[in-house]
Amino acid sequence: MILKSTIDRIMEATDIVEVIGEFVQLKKRGANYVGLSPFANERTPSFTVSPAKGIFKDFSSGKGGSAVTFLMELEKYTYPEALKWLAKKYSIEVEETVETAENKEEENRRESLMIVSAYAAKFFHESLLETDEGKAIGLSYFKERGFSAETIKKFELGYSPDQWEAFTGQALKEGYLEEFLTDSGLSVKRDNGSLYDRYRGRVMFPIHSFTGRVIAFGGRTLKSDKNVPKYVNSPESEIYHKSNVLYGLHFAKKSIREEDNCYLVEGYADVISVHQAGIENVVASSGTSLTVEQIRLIGRLTKNITILYDGDAAGIKASLRGLDMILEEGLNVKVVLFPDGHDPDSYVRLVGTNGFKKHIEDNKKDFILYKTNLLLKEVGNDPIKKSDVIRDIVESIAKIPDSIKASVFIKECSHLLQIDERALLSELNKMRNAKAKKDSQQQTNRMVTPVEEYPVDEPVEEYKETSSQEKEIVRLLLLYGNKVIDWDGIANTYIGPFMIAELNDVDFEHPASKAFIEIYSKEVENGVLPEEQHFIHHPDKDIVDLVVTSIATKYTLSDNWYEMHKILVPDEQANMKATILGAIFHLKKHKVGKMLEGLRNELQKEQSVEDQEILLNQYMRMKKVEKTISDYLGSVIIK
Ligand code: UTP
Ligand code: MN
Repeated sequence: MILKSTIDRIMEATDIVEVIGEFVQLKKRGANYVGLSPFANERTPSFTVSPAKGIFKDFSSGKGGSAVTFLMELEKYTYPEALKWLAKKYSIEVEETVETAENKEEENRRESLMIVSAYAAKFFHESLLETDEGKAIGLSYFKERGFSAETIKKFELGYSPDQWEAFTGQALKEGYLEEFLTDSGLSVKRDNGSLYDRYRGRVMFPIHSFTGRVIAFGGRTLKSDKNVPKYVNSPESEIYHKSNVLYGLHFAKKSIREEDNCYLVEGYADVISVHQAGIENVVASSGTSLTVEQIRLIGRLTKNITILYDGDAAGIKASLRGLDMILEEGLNVKVVLFPDGHDPDSYVRLVGTNGFKKHIEDNKKDFILYKTNLLLKEVGNDPIKKSDVIRDIVESIAKIPDSIKASVFIKECSHLLQIDERALLSELNKMRNAKAKKDSQQQTNRMVTPVEEYPVDEPVEEYKETSSQEKEIVRLLLLYGNKVIDWDGIANTYIGPFMIAELNDVDFEHPASKAFIEIYSKEVENGVLPEEQHFIHHPDKDIVDLVVTSIATKYTLSDNWYEMHKILVPDEQANMKATILGAIFHLKKHKVGKMLEGLRNELQKEQSVEDQEILLNQYMRMKKVEKTISDYLGSVIIK
């Protein structure tokens, strides 16, 4: 458990705009910042950050919360993981008490896998720099490739000794558990149950998560033997999902944002060499074909991808399809080829930083035009082939969400293909319409999924009503709980404790609201009026979400939201008494109504006359309560 004092210091240091800005391109709008939601695939920004309140709200997905919840949502961190990430960012020393058994098994497992991976990276790194074998074989290889000592350190490059149990033996001796050694893929289990090293006699490239923790490895052989696989990579694990990871992204993200462009290369060595040359906005998909998740990772930082290919034409043709996916995500794609036999790694070493940059500038081609030229070369005079190519190109253009951009490409391609622009446009529109239809179908499918979680057996409509009334109480407590009451008849008390006292006979049903009320009551008992911040940093995401949604109205996080509420908000403050009592007594009336219904049902089922009488008595009393509340609502509250 992280100490409360540490958590407080982390919260104080945290600048939510800075934190979220690492993942989302934010633009200032008024007092807030807006950007494209990282949780939903949207084209108009609805994701809003309020630096003043330290909260974000994503109007697209409905998610909202603090910097901590943001990291939990986006990086799938646990609460302590998110805190540690922030602590690292702001150089705050984390003080922890002993791990307790309460800590979830799963958190521990993920954390353990990360710890063992970090240990392995250190082991391989030290074996590269400090053992005779490592120096003679691994280090000399890296030096020959032109990697500087600084680069080797930055990327934590390493060497795995050419033995069966060098790493595993050491790790077990130091107390790392077999379970984590095998699950991380660092060790492999033999049939007889003993473990051996997955990586032997290889130079090691640790793979880092977006946030810089080691989650996997690629190990390159130094043998030229064709029967030995060139690379051995970590298997998928709880901390390593290959399709969600780009090699080098942790080191590149800052530069990608600054340059507003991301270079995409193929191999580890390409990333490292180009990075070492001072061009730091470079990542690799590491041999696998690019996935949508990887494109989205980049898309959060920039809308521009430049692909650096080695000049092998067959490889390029094979990857054309994958590039359509980038267009579909709304990103701009450029392509740069290198002279035969060169890849970015060898080329940057040959011509140096400036020569490399110049080559990119002189040779970058827009992907669509590049593709058109490439395919056209094969057409010759064959009309059938040509119509296939046209269809293929228009298909790519149809993937571009921005229709203005698409029409520019249509124009240019009509030149290249020597075909009437209108013919291309009509083909384009056909495809776009078909796509729009498909999309809207998916949209409606999505909309019918219910947003609330209903307790079983509860009639849905009624529960909705209950939970919305309960949430209204939470909202009022948050917004006005610390205001002093000065109404006729009631004065000299705060709204918060007043509401809590009035509601002490009400059972809250909506889980997050119930939890909120419990916390609030407890604080009030301790003589404290809890403020928003108290809840915004709560570990329970549902509570944070409830709170942020509630206060988002007041701080007008989004323009739309403001439009919807700008009349409503001043109004409710004009007659606070009606607002507060209205909410309390509407909720009470609703609860009484539910009880009455329950009693009616029981009465219908009850056979014994005596019991019927008891129930009837209860019913009459409850009915009176209902009437009192109704009268009260009618007389005091104009609602
Ligand atoms: P390359 O064969 O181009 O490797 O594969 P490289 O990293 O440029 O190696 P050098 O320059 O010969 O030292 C590109 C990427 O494909 C993945 C690796 O991520 C590699 O960096 N790959 C390649 C594998 O995962 N396994 C393999 O067997 C080969
Ligand atoms: Mn290479």
